[in-house]
Amino acid sequence: MTSSQHEATAEYARALDEADELGSFRGHFWIPQQNGEPVAYFCGNSLGLLPRTAEAAVREELRVWAEYAVDGHFAPPCPWFSYHRLLTPYLAELAGALPEEVVAMNSLTVNLHLLFATFYRPVGRRRKILLEYYPFPSDLYVAQTQLRWRGLEPSQCVVFAEPTSGEFLVQTEDICSRIVEIGEELALVFLSGVHYYTGQRFQLEAITRAAHAVGAYVIVDLAHAIGNVELKLHDWDVDAAAWCSYKYLNSGPGGVGGLFVHKRHGGKAELVRLGGWWGTPEEVRFRLLSEFQPAYGAEGWQLSNAPILAMAVHRAALELFHKAGFPALCRKRDRLHDYARWWIERVRTIVPQAPLRIVTPEDVSQRGCQLSLWVGANGKELYRYLRAAGIVVDWREPNVIRLAPVPLYNSFHDVYRFGCALLNAAQALWGGGHRGVERG
Ligand SMILES: Cc1ncc(COP(=O)(O)O)c(C=O)c1O
Repeated sequence: MTSSQHEATAEYARALDEADELGSFRGHFWIPQQNGEPVAYFCGNSLGLLPRTAEAAVREELRVWAEYAVDGHFAPPCPWFSYHRLLTPYLAELAGALPEEVVAMNSLTVNLHLLFATFYRPVGRRRKILLEYYPFPSDLYVAQTQLRWRGLEPSQCVVFAEPTSGEFLVQTEDICSRIVEIGEELALVFLSGVHYYTGQRFQLEAITRAAHAVGAYVIVDLAHAIGNVELKLHDWDVDAAAWCSYKYLNSGPGGVGGLFVHKRHGGKAELVRLGGWWGTPEEVRFRLLSEFQPAYGAEGWQLSNAPILAMAVHRAALELFHKAGFPALCRKRDRLHDYARWWIERVRTIVPQAPLRIVTPEDVSQRGCQLSLWVGANGKELYRYLRAAGIVVDWREPNVIRLAPVPLYNSFHDVYRFGCALLNAAQALWGGGHRGVERG
């Protein structure tokens, strides 16, 4: 139960919105409509909203293409040849990294494979990969196919950090003791920064320390973490990480992903990797070298020239993040989250028989903005009810509704609308003493 006190009125939610220092950022996004009204959009953990500035950013690159064609690669002010560098400072800020440790490129799963090529180095008995319990499908497939590709048997090498108590959450101590238990057989810890299903945030610093102590590398999938929770990848000494930009980074469906490689590794030209011409130093990129030579830092993992139109959207979206400032975003994230939690608890109190349970930890160090709501029965009906009321959440099999109140564009009034719709749905589906129907 959240300890905060809130009110279940539209006036209260509106007053919070009026006092919101980030309130004006909502106006920078296109919000889809349903029945002539903006929806309450809570799917930023799946696909972030379109920033209004994205269109002009794409038009600008189309103009450069039209006017300069091939010369656009070197035409000022933003030559395509080095366009990715325009994104680097923003990504470094969000990842808690040095500029030379990050690069925008490819898509998430592709980048994970590239990182495996470098950091999964099975030798002798050291060949196991530790994943979190119930990993995202793509993560499991990356691990399994990397093993098969190397002639290893996934069922013998993939191990999981399972919850030791309760159904869903895996405690940091449990992950660390699993690491110690596997010891010198452990080659790689591969887990997410924030779990896609439960919304649980993992303690990457402690986990990385434990992994390094037994001689294993750490690769992190930051799909649900970047732009959502504070990251300090450099200080935490994480070896490598990758992310996508279409969720919290609002950079469009299938948008450009990103990659982090710790400085400790970025300067090591001898590290095995899969190479491409764009990963060579700028001065030699157009030459045929007798052998691939990597550029310094994360850029040395690039393969291809950048998809500029997608990069332009990414840049416009990251500029908004930068303007809002991450500390302010985190403050608002926690207040929105708290208000949403309070509503769920209220519904549980009014309709005690509703089979609803919040899976996501309440402690701010163990979550971002996402709230995962376990629904014991009629889950899909509840989901449909919410969608019909203009509340855009998502349904994840087998029994979770995910709700992500995103500080850049969600309002307290959105959360109020969610709360009213949830209460109405709970009364309709499971009955209850409270008869009045709430208005959203
Ligand atoms: C946790 C996680 N990992 C990996 C992926 C796969 O991303 P992509 O399709 O960009 O490779 C997703 C997609 O939603 C995800 O949520």
